[in-house]
Amino acid sequence: MEEEKVQWTSHLSFILATVGSAVGLGNIWRFPYIMGKNGGAVFLLTYLFIIAFICIIPLCCELFIGKKYKTDTIQAIKSVNSKFTWVGWLCIITVILIPCFYFVVGGWILNYIWIFLTNNLPANFSGYFNSYSSQIFMPVFLTILFLIMTAAFPFRGVNKGIEKANNIMMPLFTLMLIGLAIYALFQPGAKDGLMFMFKPDFTQFNKTMILTALGQALFTLSIGMGTILTYGSYMKDKTNIIKSGYTLIFCDTLIALIAGIMIFPIVFTFNVEPSAGAALAFISLPEMFSKLPFSSIYGLIFFTLLFFASITSGISMMETGILSIIKNFNITRKRATIILTVIIGLISIPSTLSFGILKDFTLFNKTIFDLLDYSTSNILLPFNTLLICLLSGWCIKSLWKEILGENIFGYIFNILLKFVVPIILILVLVTGL
Ligand code: PHE
Repeated sequence: MEEEKVQWTSHLSFILATVGSAVGLGNIWRFPYIMGKNGGAVFLLTYLFIIAFICIIPLCCELFIGKKYKTDTIQAIKSVNSKFTWVGWLCIITVILIPCFYFVVGGWILNYIWIFLTNNLPANFSGYFNSYSSQIFMPVFLTILFLIMTAAFPFRGVNKGIEKANNIMMPLFTLMLIGLAIYALFQPGAKDGLMFMFKPDFTQFNKTMILTALGQALFTLSIGMGTILTYGSYMKDKTNIIKSGYTLIFCDTLIALIAGIMIFPIVFTFNVEPSAGAALAFISLPEMFSKLPFSSIYGLIFFTLLFFASITSGISMMETGILSIIKNFNITRKRATIILTVIIGLISIPSTLSFGILKDFTLFNKTIFDLLDYSTSNILLPFNTLLICLLSGWCIKSLWKEILGENIFGYIFNILLKFVVPIILILVLVTGL
């Protein structure tokens, strides 16, 4: 479709959009905890090494392929090597499955925004969360509402929808995050909280920690499903790939660290066990917020920033699927958005219900929600990333020269791309399974 020859209106818009995609639940409810549990500063150093030397490679490859072919993931990979078009399809399947669990959390966030807004706080959040998430009507309704809110932006187009959303939400998100982090630093538990996050523990340096860091890095940078490729396809020709890649990595990591500074001083002020995921964001943190002065404002800001983080990630997931539907089935953007929304909606319903009536419906010992999470994060993402690296390294001969030029950095990039990163990813896959 002709309609799709679009570009970001400015470099800043491009950066905000990719940062919006990368910064999500992974940064806020997972990274700080993983860092604290896996050796603090030692984990941080390992993680920085991994993103700076390993993850930068597939990140640049996706940006490069997007920028070069200026089309969706499937057609772009087909142009790289038509025998491997299925790799593009695999990426699209992944990017359709991720929202099916991610948006369930989006629905919970909407519900929490509502209860903090109306100051209708339950006496006990643990009981509340378990009984709320196991209901039928409300959670399904809010998952679908979150889906429709997300879809509304790509529905309006890249410049009018996606770009505007990120240009407004990302600065607001950052302001709120910094505000809450500064507030947290003045709490009595600040020192212990920072100690938990940063204190180096060298005994934790082992294989599992390295794998954890790599898995987290791929998920948080939105690598391995064509999202970065799709956003890269709207890049201007003069945009520098390596610089953009490192800017994204820098912002994503900085935000994850500030998120930790926002969370752990509070956790240690109230002396609760640090945790991650749903239990942290929907049970222990709100429990503590309700004890702070101005509790409902604090909670409201926290869940609103979580909402911005997750919707901007959600928009990028949807856009990846939508552009592929437009390009491969030759239909309009609006139609493509509706089709994708229906598909995701249908899979999200059983996924939402897997906390309630479908709790006992398990496959490989996992509920539908857990299965979607596990199969995408632990299997499909590293597998797709591996294939993207191999294709970029072995089928696009000039890639490293065009990204870095024929110099020492280019040679190193080429060796990392062709050998080192694939071997590491194979190791991750083998151990992950
Ligand atoms: N990077 C996002 C996060 O950290 C998740 C995401 C995955 C976004 C895949 C887009 C595509 O939460």
